[in-house]
Amino acid sequence: MSPFRNFKLVSRVNLVVAAILLLFFLLTLALDYRRQQEVIIAESVAKARLLAAGAIHAREYLSAELLRGDVTLSDRRFGLIPVVAADRIIARIGDDLGYGVRQVSSRFRNPRNAPDPFETATLIKFVSHPELKEAYGFDDTAGERVFRYLQPFRADGSCLECHGEPAAAPAFIRAAYPPERDRAYHYRLGEIIGAASVRISVASLDRQILANLRDDALQTAAVFLALVACLGLLMRTVVTRPLGRLGTAIGEVEATGRLDQRLPPRGSDEIGTLTTGFNRMMDKLQASVEQLEESERRFHLLTDTARDAIVCFLANGQIILFNVQAVRLFGYSRTDAIGLRVDALIHPDCHELAGRSVEAFLAGAGETLPAPGTPLAGRRRDGTRLRLELSLSAAESDGHRFYTAILRETS
Ligand code: HEC
Repeated sequence: MSPFRNFKLVSRVNLVVAAILLLFFLLTLALDYRRQQEVIIAESVAKARLLAAGAIHAREYLSAELLRGDVTLSDRRFGLIPVVAADRIIARIGDDLGYGVRQVSSRFRNPRNAPDPFETATLIKFVSHPELKEAYGFDDTAGERVFRYLQPFRADGSCLECHGEPAAAPAFIRAAYPPERDRAYHYRLGEIIGAASVRISVASLDRQILANLRDDALQTAAVFLALVACLGLLMRTVVTRPLGRLGTAIGEVEATGRLDQRLPPRGSDEIGTLTTGFNRMMDKLQASVEQLEESERRFHLLTDTARDAIVCFLANGQIILFNVQAVRLFGYSRTDAIGLRVDALIHPDCHELAGRSVEAFLAGAGETLPAPGTPLAGRRRDGTRLRLELSLSAAESDGHRFYTAILRETS
């Protein structure tokens, strides 16, 4: 047997709804997690693109301004070298955002700009796939999971001044990076010099995702809880309370036997039909009970006006009717007599029964009943003997055989 069978209807419905909503909730959460992850990645890519664009613009702007102001670069103005300045600027923005941002090259000039294995692999990919404008993905190689973004830098005319033929490079560059040792010369137009590289720790992304997820989960949970509560309330007002009223009314009818119970009528929904059905049933029941009582009253009137004592009893001897004359004759009140064995009305030494009970006597007699006027020794309540004349008839009702004894006292 299901353990839920004894639960209230509301509890059962609420339980089912809650289980379904919980399933939905978990599903929503899982979908939300994936969506959040996608959103955060898209956001990270956008930010990384912005940083790379910032580097290019800073470099180009500075380059143009240096040219316009006729500024000659020197080792004292090292920080004004457009590519160097751009590198420092985006590195600072990256610091503010908590991202690692730098420029890397496989033929690096500054060892600080040496690529790590992920960057090396990506740079090789950029060379073999010239159509690639960017590359990103997750990287676990350093133990911690990080999101990485790279955008290639290609050599244009301006770059070749310091990255082309060493002879064309400014003297301070040649002095700082002697061509025989530095590998960042000899680039050709369009060749990939390096890349802007952004790294974002996944732990921080996950924190962000979890924070968003927590907010979403709280919202969804609040909505679902409100839904369960509303549904419960609805169930209570629309179903269980009216059903409960119906149950109470039926219980009262059963307990008190009063048939004047009626319920206030409701709409034509299922419970409305049930309520109307109950009311109609009660109407019919009341009418038929009244009819029955009326016919019983008439029957009693009839038997009570008879001159003789009338006692009806079942085949097992149980008395079911006892008229006024019988009350007078035997000294039992009607209520005491009903349910009593008819043997109580017969004297112990009544030779007609020959010591048998009435039940046994009738069973033995079969269809042949004593002839009308058969003498019988009766017994009053006080035990005194009565000389009686008996007329017995049998009839059947509802599958039960019963007997009607008409008794007259003989002097
Ligand atoms: C005025 C000289 C100069 C010009 C012009 C120049 N660079 Fe550089 N570049 C340098 C120096 C010097 C470094 C080393 C910076 C450092 O120490 O951080 C460098 C470093 C780099 C790096 C970092 C990797 C490394 O070698 O350390 C990249 C990538 C780079 N340059 C690309 C470019 C590109 C692309 C252009 C053209 C748009 C360009 N550079 C133009 C002088 C120059």
